[in-house]
Amino acid sequence: MKQQKILVAYGSKHGATTGIAREIGRTLEQDGFDTDVVPASDVQDVTQFDAVILGSSLYAGHWQRDALSCADRNAEALAHRPVWLFSSGPVDSSAEQQEIPPVPGAAKAMEYLQARGHVTFGGSLTSETPGWIARTLVKHGKGGDFRNPEHIRTWAHEIGNQLRSQNSA
Ligand SMILES: Cc1cc2nc3c(=O)[nH]c(=O)nc-3n(C[C@H](O)[C@H](O)[C@H](O)COP(=O)(O)O)c2cc1C
Repeated sequence: MKQQKILVAYGSKHGATTGIAREIGRTLEQDGFDTDVVPASDVQDVTQFDAVILGSSLYAGHWQRDALSCADRNAEALAHRPVWLFSSGPVDSSAEQQEIPPVPGAAKAMEYLQARGHVTFGGSLTSETPGWIARTLVKHGKGGDFRNPEHIRTWAHEIGNQLRSQNSA
């Protein structure tokens, strides 16, 4: 059977979401898929992919513009292939305790892309994160790295399982 090709595209301001996208890509590679992990701004054509995973970090309740533009620009092709979305943000344990629904922009993209699923992963904000907001939060003992590799891998495996069973149907 032909190896399925999966695109993992991401919008990331300071690299935390890049790490999540790479973990998803690594997991799916180990599961036998051919994956490309690329910034959403670099995605011009998705037609060579059998499935697409698109994610973004959250800032003030919004997806990154790069990720939203990627969804818009490729809307037609994306609506014709399996798509999953993810968000990354909360710098506390909330994403591990409950399902956090997509922010309005991501929910809208889910609808017009007919995405099969969405998940919100914990984010990361540390002393390495640039900017005064991050600096102030970290100084007051807030923030931290709340990305959970196990959660990310489990979600990626589920996608792999769905694609495999669909391909063998
Ligand atoms: C100014 C600012 C605003 C943020 N707003 C949100 C938010 O609205 N919701 C959320 O879940 N996380 C929010 N975060 C946390 C980021 O989404 C988190 O740090 C994320 O992992 C950053 O990913 P990136 O480095 O890939 O951009 C905010 C962080 C900063 C610094």
